[in-house]
Amino acid sequence: MSILPVRLLVLEDDPSLSEILCESLRDRGHAPVPAPSVAEALQLLERSDFEVALLDLMLPDGSGLDVLRRIVEEALPTEVIVLTGYATVETALQAMKLGAYDYQTKPARIDELEVVVEKAAEKARLRQENAALRVRLERQEPVPGLITQNARMRELLATVERVASTDLPVLIVGETGTGKELVARALHQRSTRRPHPFVAINCGAVPETLIESELFGYEKGAFTGAVARKLGLFEVADRGVLFLDEVGDISAQMQVKILRALETKEFYRVGGMRAVRSDVRVVAATNKDLEREIEAGRFRQDLYYRLNGLTLLLPPLRDRPDDMALLASHFLARFAPGKTLSRRALEALQAHSWPGNVRELQMAMQRAAALCPQETVEAEDLPLRREPPRDWTSSAARAGLTLEELERHYIQAVLDANHGHRGKTARALGLDPKTLYNKLGAVRPRPGRGEMGEDEAEE
Ligand SMILES: Nc1ncnc2c1ncn2[C@@H]1O[C@H](COP(=O)(O)OP(=O)(O)OP(=O)(O)O)[C@@H](O)[C@H]1O
Ligand SMILES: [Mg+2]
Repeated sequence: MSILPVRLLVLEDDPSLSEILCESLRDRGHAPVPAPSVAEALQLLERSDFEVALLDLMLPDGSGLDVLRRIVEEALPTEVIVLTGYATVETALQAMKLGAYDYQTKPARIDELEVVVEKAAEKARLRQENAALRVRLERQEPVPGLITQNARMRELLATVERVASTDLPVLIVGETGTGKELVARALHQRSTRRPHPFVAINCGAVPETLIESELFGYEKGAFTGAVARKLGLFEVADRGVLFLDEVGDISAQMQVKILRALETKEFYRVGGMRAVRSDVRVVAATNKDLEREIEAGRFRQDLYYRLNGLTLLLPPLRDRPDDMALLASHFLARFAPGKTLSRRALEALQAHSWPGNVRELQMAMQRAAALCPQETVEAEDLPLRREPPRDWTSSAARAGLTLEELERHYIQAVLDANHGHRGKTARALGLDPKTLYNKLGAVRPRPGRGEMGEDEAEE
């Protein structure tokens, strides 16, 4: 529990009780301000911010509920704890419905009260932090729908701004879910081509046999089933932007055809004899390393040069930790307005490596919004897969281990971590003990130890 000093208002008309409460809260390092009446409490709330208000209900000039109502109506950053005698438990429940954080019956146990006060203060602070993030959000949206406060991202968006009105072909490179399509759309939005279409095709998802007629269209009778002329996307996108998504997945044959269309600004519909002209700006995206694809002979260098007037490299989410909390609260506000993230949940987000990047974060928040019953989303509510550290897996990959070798080393490592205890090792690996023993046969027998299975009694 945080022991940051809590600024709190203590509304209590009984002077001796008020004194005891304030005294002990002060002893605990907090900053209580006493108010003997509803009128004074309202005045104090107007003048300064309190994280917590401790409200007695029956006062000479009114009810503590009036103060609670004011706090709720004006959306003050104050959490309310109601103090009540046994006779007024009903009223206390009413207070909870109105939005009080908690209630304590009199005579209040000071130690319990202190705990509740500190918890309430923590909640008030979280609410404020989340609200502050949302305000920042509104300022962090240079492109509609694209949220970032990361310096590299903002630099990239500035570049988008600069090249938007040129016809330079742009290649957007980045891992899956980093926002490549969002950036492509932003480029179109900022360009003079904006009144004309933005047409996207996912080259990785369209079957090889269809991609040509998708891109270039076909004439009536070009093949069985071609009952009428169909325009291709190159034509549909005329004067606009053609977004070639997953461009690294295009076959060698199609690469030639696309290259020719880009160089001559002309193409033929499938089954067509007449060249069709079209004025498109091409924006391409890929999550592959195209230079490596070129080396491997899978991607044409001349097409690469043609697409790559400029490369925009989208950093993965794990390299922009400053965006994680911002994006998380943006998505949470969208899917579950009013819910907030606990500090531990924020830490868990920061620690995760986000292989699926922003898309994964979006899904995680959507799930948490739907499944988490309470107002504060905890780390446990986030569907974050456990994963091995990246450097570990990639160095294993560089070492060129087979799966079997990797498994053997991994089992040995987990076994060592569990001091040779096979039951624990099996549990940690998610194996039933028998399977582990079978696999252990392949790991070793270690000198000085008995046959496999001898220490099975431990389970
Ligand atoms: N900075 C951002 N702000 C808000 N939403 C974002 C941001 N970046 C990505 N998203 C959202 O994340 C999802 C994935 O983004 P997008 O489709 O642009 O990624 P991509 O790089 O094209 O992914 P893929 O390689 O898998 O096609 C979309 O729903 C998008 O709206
Ligand atoms: Mg995409």
